[in-house]
Order: sequence, then C-alpha cells, then structure tokens
Amino acid sequence: MCGIIGYIGIDHVEKYLIEGLKKMEYRGYDSAGICVKDDYLDVVKKSGGIANLEKALLDRKFSGNTGIGHTRWATHGAPNDLNAHPHLSFQSDIAVVHNGIIENYATLKRFLLEKGVRFSSQTDSEVLAHLIESFYTGNLEEAVSKALQNVDGTYGLAVLHRHENKIIAARKGSPLILGIGDSMMMVASDAVPLLDHTNKVIYLEDNDLAVLTRNQYDIMKINGRKVRREIEEIQWNISQIEKRGFKHFMLKEIYEQPEAMRNTLRGRIKGDTIKLSVNFDAEKLNRIVITACGTSWHSALIGKYFMEEILQLPVEVDYASEFRYRTTALAKDDLFIVISQSGETADTLAALRKAKSLGCQTLGIVNVVGSSIARETESGIYLHAGPEIGVASTKAFLCQITSLMLLALAIQQAKGKTISSRMINELEILPEKIQEIIANEKQLRVLAYRLQNATNFLYLGRGVNFPVALEGALKLKEISTIHAEGYPAAEMKHGPIALIDASMPVVFIAPEGKILTKILSNMEEVKARQGQILTITDSQNPKLQELSDHIFMVPKTLEIFTPFLTTVPLQILAYYIADMKGINVDKPRNLAKSVTVE
Ligand code: M6R
Repeated sequence: MCGIIGYIGIDHVEKYLIEGLKKMEYRGYDSAGICVKDDYLDVVKKSGGIANLEKALLDRKFSGNTGIGHTRWATHGAPNDLNAHPHLSFQSDIAVVHNGIIENYATLKRFLLEKGVRFSSQTDSEVLAHLIESFYTGNLEEAVSKALQNVDGTYGLAVLHRHENKIIAARKGSPLILGIGDSMMMVASDAVPLLDHTNKVIYLEDNDLAVLTRNQYDIMKINGRKVRREIEEIQWNISQIEKRGFKHFMLKEIYEQPEAMRNTLRGRIKGDTIKLSVNFDAEKLNRIVITACGTSWHSALIGKYFMEEILQLPVEVDYASEFRYRTTALAKDDLFIVISQSGETADTLAALRKAKSLGCQTLGIVNVVGSSIARETESGIYLHAGPEIGVASTKAFLCQITSLMLLALAIQQAKGKTISSRMINELEILPEKIQEIIANEKQLRVLAYRLQNATNFLYLGRGVNFPVALEGALKLKEISTIHAEGYPAAEMKHGPIALIDASMPVVFIAPEGKILTKILSNMEEVKARQGQILTITDSQNPKLQELSDHIFMVPKTLEIFTPFLTTVPLQILAYYIADMKGINVDKPRNLAKSVTVE
C-alpha cells in the first residue's frame, strides 16, 4: 500500500507534495520522493520516511507549479533510493508514481528490454514509465491509455510529461481521489491530504483516467470514452479520516480483511494451478518444520492442519523462542518455514539462522517487504496485506493462513497430484464470505456489551479450529486485559473445567464437521456446570442451538477452510469488549508491534 499525490496550480508545488505525503505516511514509509516539472523533470527521492526526503530537499529550490509525489510500501524491490518513486522513463521525459502491483511486469520488461530500454530499479512500477514513453506521440493521455490497455494488475497512477503542463491520473483497484480547488487541481490516494486545500472531491472509479490542468479536469475511461463523475463535498475532519473514519486502526484492519486476502491470492491462482515464486525441492520433501511467535505461531498451527491433511506429510510447529535453544536435527530435505508479519521478530530471526546453520531449505511468510526475515530466507511468500498498524494482528493472520493454504496446494501440485478445483473455487470466494461476517458486526457488538464485565474467558475448539481458539483468547487478552485461555475442547476436562461456573463465558468454535458430535459432549460438560456458552458455528444442529446461550453464525465453507471464517467474529468481539472498557485498542498496555528483542 503506497500513497500518491499530485498538484497542478499557481503556487510552488513542493509544499503541497511534502505536506500531502506526511498525511499519508501510514500507507508506507519505505521511501518517499517527489518530481517537480520545470524545464525538465526534477526528481528527488530517498529511502526511509518523509523526514529523510525533507532533509534531502533542504538545499533545493524549485520554481515549478506542477508535481507528483509518492510514499512507498515496498512490494517489488528492496526499500532503497533506486526503487523509490517517482520513476523516470528512459529518455527522462515521463515521470510516474504508482500504487498497486503490475502482474505482467516481467513480460512487459522483456518487451521493453528488447527495444533497448534500460531499467534502473527492481520495481514493477518502472515498466509503466517506459511503456508510456514507448507509446508517446505528442499526447500524454493517449500514451497512458495505450500503455494501460497492455497492463494486467492494479494501479493508482499519476503521470507527468516534460513538455505538457498536465497530470494524468488513472485507477484500477487502488484508490484515487481528485481534489477540485480554485486555480488548482490535486490527486491523491486518500482524501486526507486534499482536505487542507479543498473539500470538493471526485472519487475515481476503476478504469477511469483523468486529465488535470490548472483550471480543468476531464475524466474518461481508459479506452477514451468520456464519463461524468459527481463532485462530492467531504464533511469529515482530518483526525477522523486518518483512520479512514474508523475509531481505531485495528477495526479498520479487520474491515480490510476481504481486500487483504484478495491481495494475497492475486496472481497466484491461474485456473486450477497455483503460482508461487518459491524455491525448494518439493518432490524430495520429507518433513516441514514451522516456527513463529504470537499470532503468527497460531497461523503456523493452522498451517500444520492444512498441510497434514492435504500433503500427508509430518509437520512440526514450534515457538521460535523455544526452537532456537532446543537440541534438534534438521535434514537437507526438510523445509523450515518462518512466519512473521513484521519480518523483524528477534526470536523468529534467530530460529531461521539456526535452521540455516543446520543445512535445511528455508522459506519465509512475511508481510513487510525487505525486512530481515524476507532477506535471509532462500525464498518466500509476501502477504501483500498492506501495512498493519494496530498492535493486535488481524489481517496479517488471515493472509498468513491464506499463504499457508496456497503453499500446501503448491506442494501438492509439485508432487504431481491434482488440486481439487472445488478447493480453489472456494478459496477464491472466501473474501466475500468474510465480508458477510463483517456486515453482521452489530450482533457481535451486542454480545460484547453483554460479556464485557466477565473477568475470565475460555475459548475451546477442535481440529483446525483449536488454533482459532488460541487466537481468539490471545486477541481478547492482549487488547482488553481480560484473562482468557484457549484449549483443545476435549482437554477442558483435564483441568480447566475446574474454573467453570455461571460467571465464566466459554466460547466454542464449533463448525459442522467430523468432530462436531464430540464438541457437543464438551458443551454438555460446560452446561452441567452452569457455564455460559457462546458458539461460533455454521451448523443448524438442534442440540448445538439448544446448548448455546448465544450463537454467531458464519457462512458455510469446506471444513478445512473454516478458520478463515471463525477467526473474524472473535477479532470483532475482542475489539468491542476492549473498546467498551475504554482501552486504546491500537496501543495495548505493555505491547509493541514488532518485538526485536529476545
Ligand atoms: O511480526 P510477527 O508476526 O513476527 O510478530 C509476532 C508477534 O509478536 C505478534 O503476532 C503478536 O503476538 C501480536 N501482538 C498478536 O496480535
């Protein structure tokens, strides 16, 4: 997720660009850059946050009043100066800032290389600058339109040409908003940076292309057909929309999950085949070992269930902090997987280094591009979940289990077995089902209201939903400070049952499946001790309905996919309980987003 900004008007442009980028820094802070149009296209870009760019601009003077800027959350290519945007075309006539992923960039790059173009970055975005230049015959919007008709992927785009005083903006899949002012036009990924200058905006739609000059805007489809878009007046204030209207980043990130999951899947399913750029010998694979910490460890446990069922291979899951000090043997045909949202967790990094020293193949499942774990694993899967700012991990977890499912299917395919098209179809429609759950959040708010005063919770699940119970309990305890434990449901009678009384909510994760009848017996045991039962299920089983005090229904899916759906209501429940207790959910007590100490 990157932030882009553009301004054309009568003032010096750089202050508009820098102030705008600062307001969008939450969208990415791997690098930042601006391009000001003068007699030539003057680009300044720096790795790191906006502060680094500001330092680089200290002794620079610009006189232009047209420019574009970018703050980057790296996807393709490390977060360094060269990969920072704006990108210039080969002849330096065109500058581009881009938010999104160009899926066919490798093909386009080959085509451009054959034409003699030289590339200066590892980004997918740079191909856009060269491609637009290759189509340019004197009219920038025509060249952008032709280039985009050859592009697969997503983009929010702003483009300048050295000899034309205009900005071309285009969108598909990545947000882009025009700001309409007096003698000036702006474009940005978010309304926040526009609000200082105008509250009149136009939300571009997918496949729209806008031509902005100082006093005018024209909007057409990518194919040149003119369209009309309404001007809207924004009523919000800046502090509200920094979180895009959400009270907390955590809630925003819960809401982003359908889109985040689509981003993890994007480009990785082609018909009935899985395409991952991973690099290990799947045919010889004997054993898989996964390590991680916290929520990422829970996703590892779910991955174990996925892989054992799909691959019938032994899978071991360990806390990274334990693995690093354990005496253990790894063989060269073992695959060692590390999972980390931040890619910087100290224990996970140490476990990875130990595994490498033991000589096995390594793979990282990481969100933050260019992070230590991403750099040190031999190959990997990026989540493409976008920045996760809330300390309590939500969308990263969902994208981690998506990646683990893709990996299990890719290994199955590499072993010469056919992947079930039913599984692929279902995987692709899960984001819609998650959306349905989020649309029902009011019901969870009511439950949160009823349960907020409990001081202990028990979360119980079985099979692939046992790790969901652990994750539900972790979400609640880390943000609400209410004590909560997760257990495999059948283990309850070996100890935790002693805690159950009428004041103890017991959350059962009990979807339809081969062990539902066993869970019903565990529910009976709780009921016999007056425990209050909240059940997350997709089942209409009458016994289950009778035993539950509260039920939250999730849509039906394949049994192996149920964690994708059962996790989401537990995140929402934890969020509302914590919020009702007046806790700052984004900054829970004693926690940090990235744990870089042992
Ligand atoms: O960045 P990582 O995924 O390596 O972080 C691991 C844990 O620190 C993290 O999941 C932590 O448990 C979160 N606060 C959970 O919400």
